[in-house]
Amino acid sequence: MSNKTYGFGLVGCGVIAPTHAEAIMRLENAELRGVCDLNEEAAKACAAEYCAQPHTDLAEMLAREDIDIVNILTPSGLHARLGVQCADAGKHVICTKPIDITLENIDALIAAGERNDVKIAATHQNRSYPIYEKIRSYIDDGRLGEILYGNTFVPWYRSDEYYSDGWHGTKKLDGGGALINQSIHYIDLLIWFMGRVERIYGFTDALAHDIETEDMGSAVLKFEGGTHGIIQGSTCTHNGMPARIEIHGTKGNVLVVGDDLALWDVEGEERFEDALAGKKGGAADPKGGMQENAIVSHVRQIGDVIAAVEEGREPVLNGREARRAVEVILSIYKSSETGQPVAL
Ligand SMILES: NC(=O)c1ccc[n+]([C@@H]2O[C@H](COP(=O)([O-])OP(=O)(O)OC[C@H]3O[C@@H](n4cnc5c(N)ncnc54)[C@H](O)[C@@H]3O)[C@@H](O)[C@H]2O)c1
Repeated sequence: MSNKTYGFGLVGCGVIAPTHAEAIMRLENAELRGVCDLNEEAAKACAAEYCAQPHTDLAEMLAREDIDIVNILTPSGLHARLGVQCADAGKHVICTKPIDITLENIDALIAAGERNDVKIAATHQNRSYPIYEKIRSYIDDGRLGEILYGNTFVPWYRSDEYYSDGWHGTKKLDGGGALINQSIHYIDLLIWFMGRVERIYGFTDALAHDIETEDMGSAVLKFEGGTHGIIQGSTCTHNGMPARIEIHGTKGNVLVVGDDLALWDVEGEERFEDALAGKKGGAADPKGGMQENAIVSHVRQIGDVIAAVEEGREPVLNGREARRAVEVILSIYKSSETGQPVAL
């Protein structure tokens, strides 16, 4: 590692911005220097809170030589377009999830990274939670045996008010609803654990909100190698319930509820069961991504991007890796529209 302190700029000063700002402040070799929002008040408030310079014009912030890395935290449908602008200005780019809402836009962003020799990365905080890292290491080491199937259920709730802010639940800016905005955290985990998806059959509907996208999505998946999976995500569940993810192998069953371990039943190890798992999380709280564990995960993932720059390697959660969850979700949408299974 060099002694360089990396200058950061944020674009979008809304709900998720404090999580990124806090994470940057906790990194020794990072400093938040600029924040940009079309809404001047939002930019000024965020800048004042984190001792950075406010901007309302992205080009102006990108002209600054003291900013090396830009975190894109705007409505999802703008991520790639703004990311390309940042990459073309020579800045490394970190998008919050989803990296964007179309594969064409994501590919253009990845190409802009290659063209300008800058890193393109995303944050998916759940991947850095210790419990999910442990599951992943057990899968890698074969300690769960042959993996047979994995499922995730995200029975969350979001209010009508949440969907009336002009971008949530719209095709143009959210790219979808419950699956691409909320369930993506767990869909990303599921495919990280289970591998490449080969075939998907899905349904999506707006069951309890007046939105043009889905508040309910269900899908059956076949992974490479023949293993099975189920995804069910909603934002219409009464009061919201904790998300669940379960992995079943020939030597073990693992169940996590609300990011707490609920069952660890692995051959040769003491069985662990916790009926109280899942009492926290973002089940009905749009600000769930601001909890301490989420900030700590962002520290690690943003820190990995700095390490990738220093070491001349790809970030762990690079553009291609972040693209995978979006591809799966868009395939569920396609299957729902056509009534046919989709091969990936
Ligand atoms: N990782 C997580 O847990 C998590 C949690 C919440 C949101 N998110 C993601 O963060 C992104 C933003 O969500 P949010 O809830 O913070 O939204 P938000 O509506 O609270 O904030 C978005 C901000 O972006 C600004 N903006 C819009 N267009 C802009 C532009 N062209 N240039 C500069 N600023 C612009 C808006 O004025 C607003 O202040 C979304 O992609 C969402 O999926 C991630």
